[in-house]
Amino acid sequence: MNRFEEIRQQFLEEAKERVDSQSIYELRKAYLDRKIGKVNALMKEMRSIPKEDKAAFGQGVNALKDWVLEQLTEMESKARAAELQRRYEREKIDVTVPGKEIKRGKLHPITQMKEQMVNVFAGMGFEIYEGSEIENDYYNFTALNTPMDHPARDMQDTFYLSPEFLLRTQTSAGQIHVMEQEKPPIKILSPGKVFRSDDDATHSPMFSQMEGLVVDKGITLCDLQGMLDEFVQQIYGEGTHTRLRPSFFPFTEPSVEVDVSCFACGGKGCKLCKGTGWIEILGAGVVNKKVLENCGIDSDVYSGFAFGIGIERAAMLKYGINNIKLLFESDLRVLDQIDDM
Ligand code: DAH
Repeated sequence: MNRFEEIRQQFLEEAKERVDSQSIYELRKAYLDRKIGKVNALMKEMRSIPKEDKAAFGQGVNALKDWVLEQLTEMESKARAAELQRRYEREKIDVTVPGKEIKRGKLHPITQMKEQMVNVFAGMGFEIYEGSEIENDYYNFTALNTPMDHPARDMQDTFYLSPEFLLRTQTSAGQIHVMEQEKPPIKILSPGKVFRSDDDATHSPMFSQMEGLVVDKGITLCDLQGMLDEFVQQIYGEGTHTRLRPSFFPFTEPSVEVDVSCFACGGKGCKLCKGTGWIEILGAGVVNKKVLENCGIDSDVYSGFAFGIGIERAAMLKYGINNIKLLFESDLRVLDQIDDM
């Protein structure tokens, strides 16, 4: 009986400091393990117990075993509860902490500019013609009244893909496709990428243009200017207007260079307009009769106007960007500043 009491006391002593599952598990092993457990070891002493005491000894061992088990079970459940509580504390979420800001992206300035332009012309009833970036010599030059030996070819340095195919140097190539496919009245807008072997602060080998083409009976240069006046007011602000200067393009006759009155100084003269009060924004003209005829349109019945505007240039003017590379470098410090939609 003393042996049992001794083990009980020993157990209580050893149990004192144990509050975590790991050390309780070790205690369980030390007392109840089949091989090394102290309680189980008592059974081995059975042999040396006198016959008449064997039954009482067995009962004593079982009672001790039950008691140890009960103690351990209670300790374990206390430890589990405490551990769970600690985990709750550790993983507590403070729902009142302000969230992390999620940065919203924006459209690229070129896209913003393009979409504004498309919106203006869509409001005037223009339809979009996408066109393709790969063209052949006929659509990019010849049909636009720029035959092989024409000096105007030197105006644009071309990337050739093969003797026949090239990267279009101007969205004007789309004019021919449209006029071949559709009968007048025609009123299309064709935005897209164009390519030229040209590279400095204001030129990039890839840039974007927006072509406009209107063909119908009785179209004149006045229609062009009226429409462009409306266009510049919507893009560059009320009070801006246009001026036409004579120019040359093989696919228009007459051809004009279009200036917008300076939207920075109102025409008085400033750095942006280099003191002139005017800023050049696009090329345009009355569609050359030869071009209409190349597309099977009767130039005695129909006439048209066309214009081509550089989208990067328009964006650079509007947003005060002085180097075209800034539009292609994806520097968020630059792009973040332009929110114009
Ligand atoms: N294609 C010309 C260029 O890239 C721009 C242009 C001028 C387009 C006159 C036109 C136009 O449609 O009529 O420089």
